[in-house]
Order: sequence, then C-alpha cells, then structure tokens
Amino acid sequence: MKPKVFITGSIHVDALNLLREIAEIKINPYSRILSRNELISMVKEGIDALLVVDMEKIDKDVIEAAGNSLKIIARNGVGYDNVDVREATRRGIYVTITRDILSETVADLTFGLILCLARRIHEAHVFVKTGLWREINLNQFMGVDVNGKVLGIVGLGAIGTCVARRAKAFNMRVIYYDIIRRSNVEKELNIEFKDLDELLSTSDYVSIHVPLTEETKGLIDRRRIGLMKETAFLINTARGPIIDRDALIEALMNRRIAGAALDVYWVEPIPQDDPILKLENILLTPHIGSATSECRRRMNIAAAEEIARCLRGEKPVNIVNPEVLEVNR
Ligand code: 8YV
Repeated sequence: MKPKVFITGSIHVDALNLLREIAEIKINPYSRILSRNELISMVKEGIDALLVVDMEKIDKDVIEAAGNSLKIIARNGVGYDNVDVREATRRGIYVTITRDILSETVADLTFGLILCLARRIHEAHVFVKTGLWREINLNQFMGVDVNGKVLGIVGLGAIGTCVARRAKAFNMRVIYYDIIRRSNVEKELNIEFKDLDELLSTSDYVSIHVPLTEETKGLIDRRRIGLMKETAFLINTARGPIIDRDALIEALMNRRIAGAALDVYWVEPIPQDDPILKLENILLTPHIGSATSECRRRMNIAAAEEIARCLRGEKPVNIVNPEVLEVNR
C-alpha cells in the first residue's frame, strides 16, 4: 500500500506530480487555511507525511491525530515556529524546511519595502491614481536617500545576507547583529558586526531577519525601539512577535521613529480594528515575502523532495531537529 501524504494547501503541479508518483495524496479541499479541527479530522485516518503549506499550527494534538505512521512534517517555508518541534522530535518525526530556497525572493521584497518607505512610492502612487495630482509641486512626497545611508540587519542568515548584498549595490553602509559572527560575509561584503543596541542607535534602516524563537520573541522591545534615531525606519519580513507590538505602535504614533514596513504580524490576517491600520507612517503587506510564482514553485518542490527522501527511507536534507536521527536509530 502506498504511503499517505496530506498537503494542507495548494502546491505547484510539479510538486504534486512528484509526490503522486510515490504516495497517495490528500489535499485541503478549500481555498483557505484549514481550522485546527478540520486539520485534525483530515489527518486522523493516519498519514505518513504532512506537507505544511502555510502557517497552520501543527501542535501536539495534530501530530497525535496523524498517528504513529507519521514520519515527516515538511514546512513549505523557512519559519517553523508554527510546528511543535519538541513533540515531533519526541515521536521521532523529522521536521524540515525549504532552507535558502526563498532567501533572494524575501530579500527582494525587503528592499522594495525599504525603497517604498524612503521614497514614499506607495503614497505617491495613491495620490496620482486617485486623481489628486492637479498641479506641479516639486516639494510633494519629499523622501530620503537610501544610497549612502546605514542599513542595520538583525540576523545575518541566508535572507539577511541577501539583503546585505542588495544594500551594498545601493552604496549603503551595512552593519549587522547576529548571535554568530559571520566573518566570511563581513570580509566578502565589507560589512561590520555591531552589538544590537549600537546597531539600533546607528542605523537609518533596521531590517529584521531572525527566526521567531523563545529568545527572539520581543527582541525589539520598547527600550530598543527607543534607541533608534527619529529619522530611522524599521522593516520586518521575519515574524511579527519579534517586535513588541504596543511599543512599535506607540513609537509610530509619537513619531519616535520615522516609519515602519511590516509584512508579518502578531496575528494574521491582521484584525480589521487593529490600530496599526490607522497609522500614517507605516507600510503594510500581507505576508508576501516569498510570494513569487518562481519561488513558491521552488519551495513546493523542495518540500515535496524532503518527503520523497523520507518515504524512500533516506535522510531528509534540511532537518531542523537532527536529534531525531538518534531517536530513529
Ligand atoms: C512562507 C514564510 O511562504 O518561509 C516562511 O517561513 O513565512 C513564508 O515565506 C509562508 O510560510 C507560506 O509558506
């Protein structure tokens, strides 16, 4: 009997065909994220692999419902804060991510947000589009330079490094903070390590590129936002809870910082009554960091390949819980 794979959302046909060759596939029948109870009821017949397309919460109950045959939880992305990795490891279940596959694409969006913030492109677009441009005024939508300014990158992993490359191409000075020194990247790109407080007080643009963990939750808190320059911008394409939400709203309302661009939030979708939606000095996108057709196809195939390796009895490549190898010995 073929192994059973459940896929929580739609994936590219090339990834689907890859899995169909080796397994019996079941897919979320709706064009929306499944509720927790729907997910539990759809996996409880017992599955061998779970492809987590988005940010569905894969908690202990979902893992339990999937049964003892579950061998791998493959995330279609790099963030895995929505997966109970401890429970998966305890049960000898691999958790994999599509490492590096989306770095360039997320870095593209990050730099697009920086340019929009600096040059107020989104505001100027609406102004023209809504017919408000009725006279020549050379002083309207006055922005600030990106070239020659300081970009502070919090987290110099694959995505942070791609953002640094873009910044150097825009003649920016790049500084970074990470718990690991990246000396090779420092030399290659001529960028400097700074402790987090100095980075925040020095940067004109601060971009967040760390995973959401117990250690990084609330990392950019009220005190640290208070270190930023009043002319500085904060960009977050990583995970919402890395930034203290109330502190950010207060800083933006009081113009303690010049502005912020967010692609990720504390609750997604962001509630319609969220005060963030009423702020002027903010640029908001709906978690589209990896949302290009080319990137999503690559991610889907990469996640499917991890499942295929596992179902063939091979070790997956991008495992976030390598200690599971001991459990499976
Ligand atoms: C994913 C993300 O596209 O990679 C991640 O962790 O947040 C996004 O880029 C999202 O998880 C949908 O798969």
